[in-house]
Amino acid sequence: MKKIYLLSLMTLIMVLLAACGQPPAVSEPTPATGGETASGGSGPIKIATDASYAPMEFMDRDQVTGFDIDFLDAVMKEAGIDYEVENVGWDTMLLSVKQGSEYQAGISAISVTEERKESYDFSLPYYESANMIVVKEGSDIQSAADLADKQVAVQAATTADTIMSELMGASNPKLKKFDSNTLAFMELDKGGADAVVADNAIIQEYIKNNPDSKLVGITDSEAFQPEYYAFLMPKGSELKAELDPAVKAVIDNGTYEEIYEKWFGKKPDLSSLKAEMAK
Ligand code: ARG
Repeated sequence: MKKIYLLSLMTLIMVLLAACGQPPAVSEPTPATGGETASGGSGPIKIATDASYAPMEFMDRDQVTGFDIDFLDAVMKEAGIDYEVENVGWDTMLLSVKQGSEYQAGISAISVTEERKESYDFSLPYYESANMIVVKEGSDIQSAADLADKQVAVQAATTADTIMSELMGASNPKLKKFDSNTLAFMELDKGGADAVVADNAIIQEYIKNNPDSKLVGITDSEAFQPEYYAFLMPKGSELKAELDPAVKAVIDNGTYEEIYEKWFGKKPDLSSLKAEMAK
């Protein structure tokens, strides 16, 4: 009853305001859950991702999903932080997290690198990765060195881009740089590239999902050193102090293993990750 009364009262006020020629101010819908956050404001903090990197982050119809997204959820629950994740693309994520105004962190299979450390803070690492090559069956490419005079597709501003730029020359026209990794895979598919270099989990997933394309994955542990994924944050972010213990707890309490098994169908080998975390 009370609600109905309030509603009709509001309608009356709106009608009166409209009659005065002054439209009522439309207020933004407030987020369902509030509370103090590391960003200092109330309401959920915003996390950016580039959801075109299956199985780590990708779109399932209109939902962002993947290993990273499940891990993010577990970490945020552990830390007691209310959050929202948005698919904004790689470049926008890197740019906006650096500024720290709209997005307080990024999760997107982001490797910790010395260069990035100059402009960002990283959480503790949570996943070991390495770059890998994918070619079509029958290709004569067998290692990273064989890529030197080939057409190679990479996602721009990734570690694959950095490594291949060094190997081929940053402005080599045969090194094709795309805004998303999906576009790099498409280039290989249509014959515009002889190979794609990207993170091993992504290459393996792509080969598995495209049996008709007859693809072959190539590892090269010398050219492609181990990399570790972590949350990306603006320099000096207060969020790091909240995320680090939560990352550690999720890895130590078995939740990480569950998520890993869900996405990779096997138990993780945590030895080198734990060694890296202890550094
Ligand atoms: N690990 C690589 C890097 O940090 C590639 C990550 C690309 N991630 C993505 N969601 N597209 O540079």
